[in-house]
Amino acid sequence: MTESQAIPWHREGRAEFAVGTAFYRTQSQMGRDLALLAAAVYRQQHGELRVLDAMTGCGVRSLRYGLEAEADWVWANEANPDLQLLLIQNLARGLSPSTYRITGQDANEVFFRCYQQRDFYDLVDVDCFGSGAPYLSTALWATRIGGLLYLTSTDTRTTGGHNPEHSVQVYGAYARPHPAGHEQGGRLLIGRLMQQAAAQGLAIQPLFSFYNGHVHRVMVRLTNAEPWRGDQYGFLGYCHHCGHYQTLPWRQLGRAICPEALPDKPMPLVVSGPLWLGPLHDRTFLTAMAHQAQKWEWPQQQDLIALMQTEADLPPYYFTLPEMGRHGQMDIPKREALMRVLRDRGFRVSRTHFEPQAIKTDATMADCIAAARICSAESVG
Ligand SMILES: C[S@@+](CC[C@H](N)C(=O)[O-])C[C@H]1O[C@@H](n2cnc3c(N)ncnc32)[C@H](O)[C@@H]1O
Ligand SMILES: [Zn+2]
Repeated sequence: MTESQAIPWHREGRAEFAVGTAFYRTQSQMGRDLALLAAAVYRQQHGELRVLDAMTGCGVRSLRYGLEAEADWVWANEANPDLQLLLIQNLARGLSPSTYRITGQDANEVFFRCYQQRDFYDLVDVDCFGSGAPYLSTALWATRIGGLLYLTSTDTRTTGGHNPEHSVQVYGAYARPHPAGHEQGGRLLIGRLMQQAAAQGLAIQPLFSFYNGHVHRVMVRLTNAEPWRGDQYGFLGYCHHCGHYQTLPWRQLGRAICPEALPDKPMPLVVSGPLWLGPLHDRTFLTAMAHQAQKWEWPQQQDLIALMQTEADLPPYYFTLPEMGRHGQMDIPKREALMRVLRDRGFRVSRTHFEPQAIKTDATMADCIAAARICSAESVG
């Protein structure tokens, strides 16, 4: 039996690799594809791309950054010593020896070494397990000013608001549960990164946020130019009684009362934060990524990016259709019909990649319920 018959080879993009005992999920490919698009755009814009893949596993990302985004240099790091041989074999098959290095250190050691040696990277990819908190500020030390940082959180229990004490420990924010919990994950990560960068006298600009049903990823650009965006770093209030959402700056925390409630029955909002309240994605950067996806003939990625474009700057929450049915005490409305009626009434509205059964809009829950009633009247009439 030959070597290639004995080893089950995987293929993703242009990379071919063995997985062995490494953690590798085909379902996570979209998160990798988006990073590849961003890396390729960065390389076109800056003429150079040096990547630090801090938790590489079997090396799939390092291979793809080299082969598809045409990275000039890739540093593949993986702390698990049992994966070193696999990594050596995988990278040797796909990349030229002068374009990469492999190390087996703790990611934080790598970040500090980069800082100490003034060896900063254009793209730092941190594909960790858990909250991402242990690497959130340290990864910034290895990122070039103007460079990109791609951070992960898999702790959806905490980001969804089901462990607020833990959320305070890892994100410095009190996260509460509400129906738009999936979006909250990305916003907590961005908010924390923004605050940590500011503590170092720097700033971050969010480029895109992605949630695949299990894992949050945020891509940000590290800058020293952006001012502190205090107006977009605040709180999100939710009324469990009527489904109303409201953003709150720090100064209004004492007045977190639902405006839809009757004056004699004040309804306190459940408040999460502080978190990022500004645009989820940078439209200009997404447009460049979409062009790249078109060039590579990646239709699924193009569709996702188009959806991200429409949801980018809508309010920092979404309304789920079942919740609308519950608060309106009616059947769950059909999404497309509801969106049409809301648009006809002058509201902005979009689907959202965070939740298929939801919409993002600048209408209130009460407006949505009124629109849903029009939809049901139309379908009966
Ligand atoms: C989610 S897996 C990586 C998957 C891979 N990036 C991919 O896309 O298939 C996380 C990897 O990080 C490694 N790891 C965990 N903690 C680490 C640390 N502190 N420093 C470096 N590697 C670490 C684990 O051994 C594991 O292989
Ligand atoms: Zn209310």
